Order: sequence, then C-alpha cells, then structure tokens
Amino acid sequence: MMSCIHLSLLLGLLLLFSTTLYSANAKTHYHDFVVQATKVKRLCKTHNTITVNGQYPGPTLEINNGDSLVVNVVNRARYNVTIHWHGVRQMRTGWADGPEFVTQCPIRPGGSYTYRFTIDGQEGTLWWHAHSSWLRATVYGALIIHPKEGSSYPFAKPKRETPILLGEWWDANPIDVVREATRTGGAPNVSDAYTINGQPGDLYNCSSKDTVIIPIDSGETNLVRVINAALNQELFFSIANHRFTVVGADASYLKPFTTSVIMLGPGQTTDVLISGNQPPARYYMAARAYQSAQGAPFDNTTTTAILEYKSAPCPAKGISARPVMPSLPAFNDTATATAFTQSFRSPQKVAVPTEIDESLFFTVGLGLNNCPRNFRARRCQGPNGTRFTASMNNMSFVLPSNYSILQAYKQGIPSLYTTDFPANPPVQFDYTGNVSRSLWQPIPGTKVYKLKYGSRVQLVLQGTSIQTAENHPIHIHGYDFHIIAEGFGNFNPKTDSAKFNLINPPMRNTVGVPVNGWAVIRFVADNPGAWLMHCHLDVHIAWGLAMVFLVEDGVGELQSILPPPADYPLC
Ligand code: C2O
Repeated sequence: MMSCIHLSLLLGLLLLFSTTLYSANAKTHYHDFVVQATKVKRLCKTHNTITVNGQYPGPTLEINNGDSLVVNVVNRARYNVTIHWHGVRQMRTGWADGPEFVTQCPIRPGGSYTYRFTIDGQEGTLWWHAHSSWLRATVYGALIIHPKEGSSYPFAKPKRETPILLGEWWDANPIDVVREATRTGGAPNVSDAYTINGQPGDLYNCSSKDTVIIPIDSGETNLVRVINAALNQELFFSIANHRFTVVGADASYLKPFTTSVIMLGPGQTTDVLISGNQPPARYYMAARAYQSAQGAPFDNTTTTAILEYKSAPCPAKGISARPVMPSLPAFNDTATATAFTQSFRSPQKVAVPTEIDESLFFTVGLGLNNCPRNFRARRCQGPNGTRFTASMNNMSFVLPSNYSILQAYKQGIPSLYTTDFPANPPVQFDYTGNVSRSLWQPIPGTKVYKLKYGSRVQLVLQGTSIQTAENHPIHIHGYDFHIIAEGFGNFNPKTDSAKFNLINPPMRNTVGVPVNGWAVIRFVADNPGAWLMHCHLDVHIAWGLAMVFLVEDGVGELQSILPPPADYPLC
C-alpha cells in the first residue's frame, strides 16, 4: 500500500518535472508519411486513391509555434511525389519546401525523403499537400500551429477547435484527368463533388450516411479552421444561422470582424470563431463555387456537413429532421468576395517596408497557343483549335525535368535556367480591356528573377482579360507578404498608390488577384533560396502561370541557406 502511494507520488513529480521541462523547450515532432494507393469509395464508386497512410484527407499535424517537424515520406505509390508545407516560411531550409523540380527532384516510387524544418513566428492554420502533378487532389492534410508554449490566442480560448478541409473529388483518377488535358490542350474535366473533411455530404448520391458531423454545445465557442484544399476552385463557405468572427488567415492573426460568409481561394486558410448561440438543433455548413470566369465550365455542386448541438433533442438529430441550409452567394458574386477580402486588417500596426528596392509589375493571366504544325487536331481542343496556356509577364513557366532549380543554383549550373524574368510586362497594353490576339501567345521558358538578400520588394499583380479574366489565387513559397491594396481595372501608379494601406495591411501567403483587377503586395527578401510563385489553381500551373524568385544569400552568419540534407533526392 505504502509503496504504491510512493510510486504514484514519484510519478506525479516526474510528470510535473517533464511538463515544466517541455514548456521551456520547443519540441520536435516525428511523423511517417507513407504515400500509397488506398481503396476509397465516394459517389457510389471505389477508386484506387493516392493517400498518406491510407487516410483521406491525410493526417492532421499539430504543433506549437517554435516547434520542429521531421516527416519521413516514403513513396509506395506508382507516381513521383513531393510534399509541400504550404505557408511554412522554411527559413534557410528551402530544401524542405517541396515543389518538384523547384526545390527538389521528386521522390521516385520506392524512394523516401525526410523533410526537416522549424516553424517560427507563425500561428494559426496552414496545411500540407503533394506538389507533383495533380496528386494534391487527395494527398493533403491540415497543419495546425498553436501559440508558443506558455502564450495564448489574442482572443478568448475557444472550447473546441475543428479543422474543416474543403476538397474537390473527381469520380476518376485525377492524374488521368490532367494527363488527358495535357494531351488535348483543352480544359481538364471539372470535378464531380466538393468535400468537407473528405466527404461530399447530403446533396450527392451515396454520400448521406457518411456526412461529416461537427459537434458544438450551447454557449461554447468553436475555433473553426477552414482550409481550401480544392484543386481549381475558389469557394464560398457558410453555416446556417451562425455568424463567423474572422480571427486569422494563412497563419497570421487578423483584426477580428464578423461575416456570415467567407471566400477562400485554393491554398488559403481562414480561422473563424462560431458560438453555440442558436436553438440546439442541426445546421448545415456548406461550400460551393465562387466562379469569377465568365462562360467557363465549373463544378456547380454544393458540399455539406452538419453542425450538431450536443444538447439537441433526439428527434432533431433524427434522419427525418432536415437541418437548416445556409444561403450561399450566387456563383458569380464578386461583390461579396470583394467585401470579404477588403475587411482584412492586421490586428496592430505592422512593419511594411516603405522604401522599395525592387518595384515589380507582373501580369497574370491565360493565353491560347495556336496549334503547332506537327500536332493533329485532337491535340488542339482548346477554343477554336488552340491549346490553353498561361503566363506571368508573357512568360509561360516550364518546369525543368532533370534537376531542381535550387540544386542547379547552389551547384552553380545556371545554364539550366535563365535569370531574365522581366520586372515589367515586355509590352504594355490595356490589360483588362480588349486585348489584341497578337498578345495571346506567351513565350515558354524556365526564367527566374534574382533578388538580393534583404531587398524590399513591391509587386503589383495585374490580372489580364486575355481569353478569360478570372480571380487568380497567387501563392509565394517561402514568404508571407502584406497585401497593401487591391482593385479593379488596370493598376494606376499615380492614383492607386493613394489607396495603399501601410499601417495595418493583412499578411498572407496567397492573394486572390481580383477578376479583371490587381493586387499590390510587399515583402522583404530575407529568406535565401529558390521560391516558386504561382497561381494555386492547379489547372493554371500546368499551363505555366508561375515563375521563381531566386533569393541570394546574405553576408551575415544566419543569412545563407543551410547545406542540403544527406538524403536530398537528386534526379
Ligand atoms: Cu500550396 Cu506551390 O503550393
């Protein structure tokens, strides 16, 4: 008896000791990711879906700001794969960023690679996804960063936290879908469903019994971390009878504001608080397309999950009681999308660079290539016998195929890419007007733009109306940036600079460039490496809507990229 008490006392002391020890130290979290084909049944059919550890969506990683991750990725699938940690700054660890042929060669079937990196100064919601072909359609998961040990949220601690991953499902092999599009030159088939945490929900065939239930209790607050992991579609998201208090996006806090609907482009995350202040019952949460492109086909279905009050009376939980459906904006409701993003502010005054070393202006948009002479008609199934393409500053990005840009850069083999990506459009034109057909065919190439360490960058992203104007979610790897202004039409440096918010602009890693409009961002190039910037609509990446910033090492001790890891995959 005595010894038993002594033992538990001792254990208690040990426990106490280890928790205090831990709170003073950042932790390292080890994970194994096995990429493998797994049988997944959705919309009445079973597919051999590529997953991580047999899970769809993949595992949620939870860490504290300041912690490190060591993720050993083993490729047991029949495709090349890489994993990207979307939004993680990867300070000096660009080798672990993940985009294939930019920071690494792919992990071949049978191969493996261990990603090692530290998260420092970022709190909120990020995610991870495959960065090879269209594998990210099913290879993705949440990456949740809690406040540093011992510190707290800048809002009352919520009772619950729920990740909501919005996804896109093809009743086909997504790799076949993109390969087919590459062959034909046309637009890829649109998806057959959207999903919430991997499930399409009540409005699709064979899906009802697996609809995701999100619990809440009367009087409690739930921190809902919404991630748009869809491949090609901006999405509106809403919960019946509940308002959102938006508190963060892309792992940066925001000055809280309330809204009944949020819009996320692929790549973006938004943290919202909801309170259980409605009669205990079941309420639908739903997502469907924000489609800014006129006349382009899109998946117009609606995914649902159910917010269920734990104290709801039993009949309300029964199958017969249909939950209340939220009203979602019209598909083309750009006004609602704009009102939402324009409400974003940082919580405090922030350090935006005011002096600029690099003033850049990039057009972003689609194009159409005339059918090459040696191509048969079936390979030119874009509009009027063309092939779709896309570009930034008229350069259509081509990924290397036998080296990564970062590796070539560090090994000093610059002939594998060129450093002449233009700082400004090679030709100026009325970007959002009626663009002459002679400007629809961009130049293919692997061009990078060099930045000196520490340079202060302003980048105007100007959408074009070539072929189809639409909202482009532009993502920069390795950086967060401040969005200091956005607007419609052509950016006018004289009048639009007056609209710059240099006080409390929001910080993000992905900016939705408004349809037929522009966005201005600023950042300091303080992270050396090769950093992909691209449209996060995967259909546009394949068409070339990307470029790479090559950020040089600085002279200071901590201003250069670390050496590559021993198991770094070469081609
Ligand atoms: Cu989620 Cu290249 O990015």
